[in-house]
Amino acid sequence: MCGIVGYIGKKSVVPVILDSLQTLEYRGYDSAGLAFVDNDLLTVYKASGKLMNLRNQLPEKLFEKNGKSRYIGMGHTRWATHGAPTDQNAHPHVSCDGNIALIHNGIVENYGELREGLTQKGHQFHSKTDTECVVHLIEELSKSEPDMMKVLQQVSQRLVGAYALVILDKRHPDKLYGVRNHAPLVVGIGEDELLLGSDVVAVVEHTNKVAYLKDGEIVELSPQGFKVINFYGEPIDAKVETIASGQLIADKKGFKHFMLKEIHEQPDVIRSSLSGRLITPEEPIALFQSDAAQRLEQINRIFIVACGTSYHAGLVGKYFIEDLVRIPVEVEAAGEFRYRNPVIDDKTLVIAISQSGETADTLTAIRQSHDKGSPVIAITNREDSTIARESDWVLPVRAGLEVSVCATKSFTAQVIVLYLLGLYLAETRKALAAENLQEIKSELQRLPALVEHILHTPEPIQALAKKYGNSRDMIFIARGINFPAALEGALKLKEISYIHAEGYSASELKHGPIAMLDRSIPVVAVLTEGIVYDKMISNCQEAKARDAYVIAINSGPMPEDVKDTFEDVLMIPKTHELLSPILTSVPMQLLAYYIAEFLGKDVDQPRNLAKSVTVE
Ligand code: F6R
Repeated sequence: MCGIVGYIGKKSVVPVILDSLQTLEYRGYDSAGLAFVDNDLLTVYKASGKLMNLRNQLPEKLFEKNGKSRYIGMGHTRWATHGAPTDQNAHPHVSCDGNIALIHNGIVENYGELREGLTQKGHQFHSKTDTECVVHLIEELSKSEPDMMKVLQQVSQRLVGAYALVILDKRHPDKLYGVRNHAPLVVGIGEDELLLGSDVVAVVEHTNKVAYLKDGEIVELSPQGFKVINFYGEPIDAKVETIASGQLIADKKGFKHFMLKEIHEQPDVIRSSLSGRLITPEEPIALFQSDAAQRLEQINRIFIVACGTSYHAGLVGKYFIEDLVRIPVEVEAAGEFRYRNPVIDDKTLVIAISQSGETADTLTAIRQSHDKGSPVIAITNREDSTIARESDWVLPVRAGLEVSVCATKSFTAQVIVLYLLGLYLAETRKALAAENLQEIKSELQRLPALVEHILHTPEPIQALAKKYGNSRDMIFIARGINFPAALEGALKLKEISYIHAEGYSASELKHGPIAMLDRSIPVVAVLTEGIVYDKMISNCQEAKARDAYVIAINSGPMPEDVKDTFEDVLMIPKTHELLSPILTSVPMQLLAYYIAEFLGKDVDQPRNLAKSVTVE
């Protein structure tokens, strides 16, 4: 969602801000802006659209050093929640007296009431955002309180919602302030410079030393250093950590798009996810470094919470864990979980899956699970995230920085970690015979090579993309453990090509969706050898009988007499049925990619989407 950058130091501020905003671009945004103080003047630039539009407005002299010993400023990429993505609604927003500028990530829920009160006091609003009321509130409170840290404490008592704020006040031209409440904010500590970022990605070009603010904290940056207090004014000793910054630098490595690069990274991602955890098929899975074993013994139920692609990974996990461990597993979209009263207790293990580790709904689901006494495992790609910090145990997926908004390698890595967790639970609970476990483990170790095999021959998928790329709708069907893979295939296609796509269990086709079928709606069918293979063939024949083009992603021994059911067949290698979603997902990722590329879409930054969804 919104990207936040703040800077105080010796480098020319505008290039620093633009570069940092660029590193956050991948998260998705629709307008951008920046503010800086120079010679006691607060200057603001804003533009809707891409960062380039903002860059084009800026005078060249802002890119030169102007002899100042210290520079201060901040920048923002906005993902619109309240008010259209226009220049006016872009951040920073400025107080009526022109002294204070503010940027914000999150949602101020009581903005209507605040706006009304402030309007009555004479404040003039220039945007349709929820954010603007905060800068007017700060202005109003500063009339009777000159100390900005105290003003911000008062502000925190008045705001309802989630917010990370950065504030620049030209009356304090060597200070930058930040506030964190349910939206991430990190301080970067460099040589003679301090930064603020909504993600460490924004600061790693400058430093690998960071302090993560916690909810309910306020920070002041100045040439003397940074100081943190909580919303009650008590000083906080913020922990400074050193991060492995190299892993957070985005590079396309010669691929046309990050998405294609990330799809191709999957064999290595699987190796890395398995490394040190699955050593040989004969050895037990090594997954936890802490006291987990004893605590997990008492668990009699699992609840998986996640959103989007991570939710689909969770569904694969349900099929796998229930099959191996014989323990009930429920999977629910975190945004639904949080607004009902799920039946969970201290014997329910909650697994929260999140690539970014900052998804607001998943984070809230974790907090609610803790309130009900359930232990929580986070499966995440970001060990430095809030979700990782707030969970009892973290299982990193080790996918490396995922830049493309469309999740691919993180899905694969999440599924691999769920497989490892299922195997671990099956072993520790002696739920399955050793030889069955060893068979699955051996197959897991073969997966990287099998994915490589699929990646080596993209031509048939490119041909399908040209053949079907102009379709208005597409349907993905599968059964069993590949049903979630079909949901994921449809999600990939719709989010980057904007073609309407739906995933269904093939058994559900005749309960409604079959009514839509005709020649104009291609049906992608996932057929893997196993108990549902013949059933899938029958379902495909039903679709073909309605004149639909059926495209098979097939690993089974297709009988000669059914081959004419399929307009196209993509062969994939055979593996254990429970592991097959890893292999069936890759061609669907590639199909979505090549269709979006064929249609000339913005593959890595699809419209309306954000990489890290920090508001509910
Ligand atoms: C789709 C996609 C989203 C995310 C969802 C959850 O390609 O990326 O559906 O999976 O927003 O995000 P995380 O996993 O960061 O919690």
